[in-house]
Amino acid sequence: MDGNGRWAQRRGLARVEGHRKGAVAVREVVRASREVGLRALTLYAFSSQNWQRPADEVATLMQLLRDYVIEERAEIMDNAIRLIAIGDVDRLPDFVREPLETLMRDSAGNRAMTLCLALSYGGRESILSTTRALCDMAARGTLKPEDITEDRFSSALQTGGLPQLDLLIRTSGEERLSNFLLWESAYAEFYFTDTFWPEFGRDDLLGALESYHGRERRFGRTTEQILRSHG
Ligand code: IPE
Ligand code: MG
Repeated sequence: MDGNGRWAQRRGLARVEGHRKGAVAVREVVRASREVGLRALTLYAFSSQNWQRPADEVATLMQLLRDYVIEERAEIMDNAIRLIAIGDVDRLPDFVREPLETLMRDSAGNRAMTLCLALSYGGRESILSTTRALCDMAARGTLKPEDITEDRFSSALQTGGLPQLDLLIRTSGEERLSNFLLWESAYAEFYFTDTFWPEFGRDDLLGALESYHGRERRFGRTTEQILRSHG
């Protein structure tokens, strides 16, 4: 999610006001995602690099995160949403980590949709920690290097339990990945919009999905092959 700060600054407000409005947008987009039947939605809420922001901005983001986890609990449970997190969750302050872990545990059996929060997350960091874990197994003799296949690697990532990444939306006019889901986005479709995150709502999500549905995904093959395989 991107553009909270600029949304606020354009209105002469403090950046944190943008984050507050951004949290409202999260609620609307999660609700719409569940209604249209998405299997999973991952939100890049806080990157490994975001720790470098001014301390008061980081503190507000942490407070909003705690509020979100506590206030959305009922809606998440009522809608059979499973909440998971990717990233270095241990780095979050206890007042965020504790309610987050409680809701993750309590929602673990929910099946309608997975809501994945990327928190203290970085794509490179994630690839590195997975690589380290696999190397450790290889060094202990429990995994053969030749058994480290794409599938094995994918399932060892924190996103291993999620379906394939199909669509990646970037708001606020930025056209870069900024360390998000680097491995997982190999064949994702990208959707760029100038809309700032606080103004991204249900209709914007539907617009992105419509764009996605109009695309031909070939995964390196030809159009003819794709048409034939669809019978
Ligand atoms: C996204 O909005 C929220 C977080 C990164 C937590 P930004 O804070 O990046 O807003 P801009 O991009 O500066 O406008
Ligand atoms: Mg930004």
